Amino acid sequence: MRLAVGFISLAVLAACDTGTEQRDAVASTRAVQRPYVPVPPGTIARGAAAQNAALSPPGPQVTPDLVARGEERFRAFCSPCHGPSGRGDGTVVSRGFPPPPSYHDGRVRALSPEQIVTVITQGKGRMYSYADRVLPEDRWAIAHYIKQLQAQIGAPMRQGAASP
Ligand code: HEC
Repeated sequence: MRLAVGFISLAVLAACDTGTEQRDAVASTRAVQRPYVPVPPGTIARGAAAQNAALSPPGPQVTPDLVARGEERFRAFCSPCHGPSGRGDGTVVSRGFPPPPSYHDGRVRALSPEQIVTVITQGKGRMYSYADRVLPEDRWAIAHYIKQLQAQIGAPMRQGAASP
């Protein structure tokens, strides 16, 4: 009987020892320095400083490629509510989501690209943040695409504005 108890405690102690060894092994790999690997495209920077740098104006240079990228991202993430031309008539709205203001209303037309980037990053009112879905550079791309959309469509005619 005493022998059996001795065996059991030995077995328990042995198990403890193995555990300790494994922990040591895990801890030691943490000290390994990995060689520098280039950042894969599409990676979201984790540091707050890197994020802020990517979001601070003036943002990336506005090129046709950037605006084309913005259009593609806009159609994926924004048009479901804002509608393909930004009039606030997307499919989500047609199913009951509160309609956003049209991009062609004076107040929204006056927003700068930087302010649009801030809306995407922080959300606004009933619109939640898209920070975890839209990369910083893509936020600028979308903002410039919206500015282009606004310039193309122009201010809405106010009712009765055309009549004398
Ligand atoms: C789920 C629906 C929805 C989606 C998707 C959406 N928005 Fe909105 N957005 C709203 C609503 C609703 C408002 C009005 C918010 C309020 O004032 O309460 C709004 C407001 C805005 C405004 C105007 C802010 C202001 O100052 O009045 C901008 C600009 C905007 N959204 C840009 C975007 C962009 C860019 C995207 C895509 C990355 C996007 N939204 C995706 C619903 C959405």
